[in-house]
Amino acid sequence: MTEQADILQPLPDALDKASAALASGRLVAFPTETVYGLGASAMIDEAVAAIFEAKGRPHFNPLIVHVPDSATAAQHTVFDERASLLADAFWPGGLTLVLPRRPDTPISLLVSAGLDTMAVRCPAHPVAHALLERAGPLAAPSANASGKLSPTQATHVAASLGTGHGHLAMVLDGGECAIGLESTVIGLPLDGPATLLRPGAVPGEDVEAVLGYALAKAAPHTSNDDSTQGRSSPGQLASHYAPDAPIVLNTTQFDENDVVLAFGAEPCPLPKGSLNLSPSGNLREAAAHLFSMLRLLDAVAHGKRIAVMPIPMDGLGAAINDRLTRAAAPRP
Ligand code: TXA
Ligand code: MG
Repeated sequence: MTEQADILQPLPDALDKASAALASGRLVAFPTETVYGLGASAMIDEAVAAIFEAKGRPHFNPLIVHVPDSATAAQHTVFDERASLLADAFWPGGLTLVLPRRPDTPISLLVSAGLDTMAVRCPAHPVAHALLERAGPLAAPSANASGKLSPTQATHVAASLGTGHGHLAMVLDGGECAIGLESTVIGLPLDGPATLLRPGAVPGEDVEAVLGYALAKAAPHTSNDDSTQGRSSPGQLASHYAPDAPIVLNTTQFDENDVVLAFGAEPCPLPKGSLNLSPSGNLREAAAHLFSMLRLLDAVAHGKRIAVMPIPMDGLGAAINDRLTRAAAPRP
């Protein structure tokens, strides 16, 4: 049996231990303002490979490289004017940019999963930032088993990945993630339009306001087929973010076979065990609660289905509905 990973409070001492573990090729889970990430030194092939193994992640699905600032991003990618504009407006924060790799970058090719692009993000969470300052660029997907709910608390990481395997050295506990939904992913191909690859923490409308024009939209994926070539964002499988219980969306009538994930005013007394994302109908509050409430409902469902009330599509609603639609999609 391999050594057990600890959940540590991120005091300077824990940050030093985490940096040393990363430098030796091990994995460290750390908080960001969106969700917890499973980090590896982006320069060490074996460490990046261990991320795919720990998550059971398909090898065609590339990883985000987290950087302490845009100057670091520009060392590794072709950081054009659009990238600078968006980084100035939204970094540090919940925006990821997919850019051409620089041919001379020492970042592992494994993060790009065979593409000639690299996703970069500068997170705002002070623990993530302190770790990046010490340990350099970190490849980090959400710290959950592939296809499952993303972690918004340190204990979720341990529950999803298990802490008993050798790759994961430790989980840095930075409390609950303030946003609770993954970053927005924008593709910036050299010869093509800025494209929304994944709705997320920064509403698409806000990105469009800074660019001054509309984003192109990536075609939605309707299949879970791993072999499909040419995906613009390979991680966008139809089924993802899935709890174990079946889930139905846009429901306002419930029966005893449901536990309800409500939003706003409740139309009738809800079945026992139900939860409300935001009784006042606030989308920020709903985003922050989404993954943790799905986890809680999954734990009490016992064969019942999770019925979700309608959620509007404006602002963070686009990302919330994206995650819910994929949580409800037929499983592979
Ligand atoms: O908020 C977040 O983005 C979190 C935190 C930890 O930063 N990370 C995260 O990573 O959600 P992950 O691996 O769960 O999702 C990354 C998404 C995937 O859909 C992946 O396909 C896409 O970004 N992606 C990464 N590199 C890409 C690339 N070179 N081209 C297109 N899509 C890419
Ligand atoms: Mg993920």
